[in-house]
Amino acid sequence: MLVAVSDLLRHRLIFVTGKGGVGKSTVATALGLVAVRRGRRTIVAELASQSRARAAFHESGATFEEVQLADGLFTISIDPELAMEEYLRVKTGSVGQALGSSRLFQALAMATPGMRELLSMGKVWELAQLQRRTSGADVYDLVIVDSPATGHGAGLLRTPQTFAEIARVGPIAHQARTIAATIADREFTAVAAVAIAEEMPVSETLWLRDALARDGMGLDAVIVNARLPERFAERDRAPLAQARDRARSPLVAAALDAALSEQARARGQAEQVRRLRDGLGQPVAQLPCLFTPQIGRPELELLADALELPRPERAAAAVGG
Ligand SMILES: Nc1ncnc2c1ncn2[C@@H]1O[C@H](COP(=O)(O)OP(=O)(O)OP(=O)(O)O)[C@@H](O)[C@H]1O
Ligand SMILES: [Mg+2]
Repeated sequence: MLVAVSDLLRHRLIFVTGKGGVGKSTVATALGLVAVRRGRRTIVAELASQSRARAAFHESGATFEEVQLADGLFTISIDPELAMEEYLRVKTGSVGQALGSSRLFQALAMATPGMRELLSMGKVWELAQLQRRTSGADVYDLVIVDSPATGHGAGLLRTPQTFAEIARVGPIAHQARTIAATIADREFTAVAAVAIAEEMPVSETLWLRDALARDGMGLDAVIVNARLPERFAERDRAPLAQARDRARSPLVAAALDAALSEQARARGQAEQVRRLRDGLGQPVAQLPCLFTPQIGRPELELLADALELPRPERAAAAVGG
């Protein structure tokens, strides 16, 4: 069952996934801003070491520590090897610390299929705990995970369960089971998919919904990003085309060509949104395409405004154009 963005933010842990390049990092950070406006101490955790959230706030370089971006908003880039060192240090003291810093041990651990994902998920889980295992670490009300692209993202969510089944006994199985239980807890954890209104991203979103359902999970929200404004209605098309055919000035003809092509693209997007909505059987939230070379804090605030609208299905119309 899909919920509105405000319901989404009631969870403590939100995974944001979607096809590559559709705006996962942007939407994850905008969601973070909405949460902060509601007084929730929030961290956006990036899993692919891309540091997109930091870049939007004019901070450079990857950091594997928790960094404050704005009042109440933090970010971290999760590195599996550092997550393992931290885990071993906290869990097993000096022996673990020696093991964690052993290059051979690290190489072996990282070569274990799925181990990097499990360690990353372990760190995500740790960030979402009311009692942080990292000493002196503050508690977050909300952890938003900027997850890898769809296929990998779905695999990531399944990793702890897979490890729990394979390992069965021992500390890894125990830890994996704890993380898997947290992910399976649909009060605690939510999954949001970001798509753009094009054929492949829409298909991937529907695929993701089915893949999650097979694992007993679901999509809690779907956000269509970068909707073009619908400046021209279907009925404008014929008059625009006629005017273009009659235009004497090349400049006017070019402008009318541009208008026609935009109308066609917006119509194509509307069709894909309909397909997505029908496929899901639920409404979707929408965010406008922002015509700026870079997305920084002001643009993220605009997207946060759009997410906060009571009927986010209309967000594109309200903010775009
Ligand atoms: N609503 C929007 N309007 C205009 N540009 C946008 C919008 N959302 C995202 N972008 C831009 O699109 C590009 C991709 O966005 P982003 O990095 O958030 O995508 P992603 O899904 O996280 O990508 P990746 O799969 O590489 O991690 C960025 O340059 C971003 O600034
Ligand atoms: Mg990204």
